[in-house]
Amino acid sequence: MQDIKIVGTASYHPSSVVTNQQLSLLMDTSDEWIKTRTGIKQRYISHGENTSDLAVEVGRRLLKATGISVSDIDLIIVATMSPDAYTPSTAAIVQGKLGATQAAAFDVSAACTGFIYALTTAEMMLKSSSYKNAMVIGAEVLSKLIDWHDRSTAVLFGDGAGGVLLKKVETTEPLILAHCLNTYGNLANKIIAGGTNVDPTFPRKVTTLTPFEMQGRDVYRFATHEVPRSIITATSKAKISLGDIDHFLLHQANERIIKQIAKKLQLPLTKFPLNIMKYGNTAAASEPILLAECIANGLVKQGDLIALSGFGGGLSTGTIILRY
Ligand code: ACO
Repeated sequence: MQDIKIVGTASYHPSSVVTNQQLSLLMDTSDEWIKTRTGIKQRYISHGENTSDLAVEVGRRLLKATGISVSDIDLIIVATMSPDAYTPSTAAIVQGKLGATQAAAFDVSAACTGFIYALTTAEMMLKSSSYKNAMVIGAEVLSKLIDWHDRSTAVLFGDGAGGVLLKKVETTEPLILAHCLNTYGNLANKIIAGGTNVDPTFPRKVTTLTPFEMQGRDVYRFATHEVPRSIITATSKAKISLGDIDHFLLHQANERIIKQIAKKLQLPLTKFPLNIMKYGNTAAASEPILLAECIANGLVKQGDLIALSGFGGGLSTGTIILRY
């Protein structure tokens, strides 16, 4: 049968590190507070690179790692909540800069769950068309959406990008065993970034974007309740048990949330790799960065069963069960 395979993974982050200690000089916070409440020790912050710049670097690394020619890329999907612009899509900029002239390109907006939605979309498009190769990239420059005087959000986020190259192959084993995607639009106001207000006068003033606003405690409760449910549903759709899964690669929003989810699922924390201490929350980039790192350091091996699970703005949740 024909299915898809992950033939390459890559990640990239800006070179500039901002530590908790540095943030404590800018606002009323401390290394101790940030580490205890979130697990974050540092984050990478862009100095002038935009979201497409980070995504292009991931695209270049994917091409180099796989040896696939840029002219053979049929599809580029970028998951982001911090696009360069409303239009063009960040994916279109990536397509242009890579010279992937044969590729259809568009963005997916589902905040921190974006990579799960984008991977699902790419899988379905590859399996139902003549497309053979697709890049799925999660990329964020969240630092441009943050109010750097608001300690309740500024300490949480970072910039980065990661991605996978998917290839259609003849195989006996499907890559993706099950998905579970959910959206809770009634909770849309819990996380808002880059909002626009329509001025009632005409001619209007130039629109400005609202900075990142989040009702943190509500999102915490949502995540610790809905993510276990999403993982259990996806696992049962895949007709496997939780114990069969080798690695749970969860969106890196807060170490406490991940510990709570592991506890609720009655699973050892050793099955939940963490890199939040190094990156902070990189929204749609968090899962592909973690996946690329776990493959690069040998933790995730060919044949392993993985639950990729994200949550965030929308509000939304998404889990994919895949055999790498
Ligand atoms: N430094 C020091 N003190 C702070 C800071 C800070 N950076 N931020 C808040 N505080 C204070 C608050 O003012 C409050 O003080 P008070 O008790 O005097 O009122 C106290 O610390 C506790 O604040 P809480 O908001 O209750 O802290 P909590 O333990 O809930 O941690 C956090 C906050 C880390 C935001 C947590 O709620 C959380 O992780 N929520 C989930 C966020 C998330 O997962 N988002 C992901 C989705 S994002 C997306 O989709 C892009």
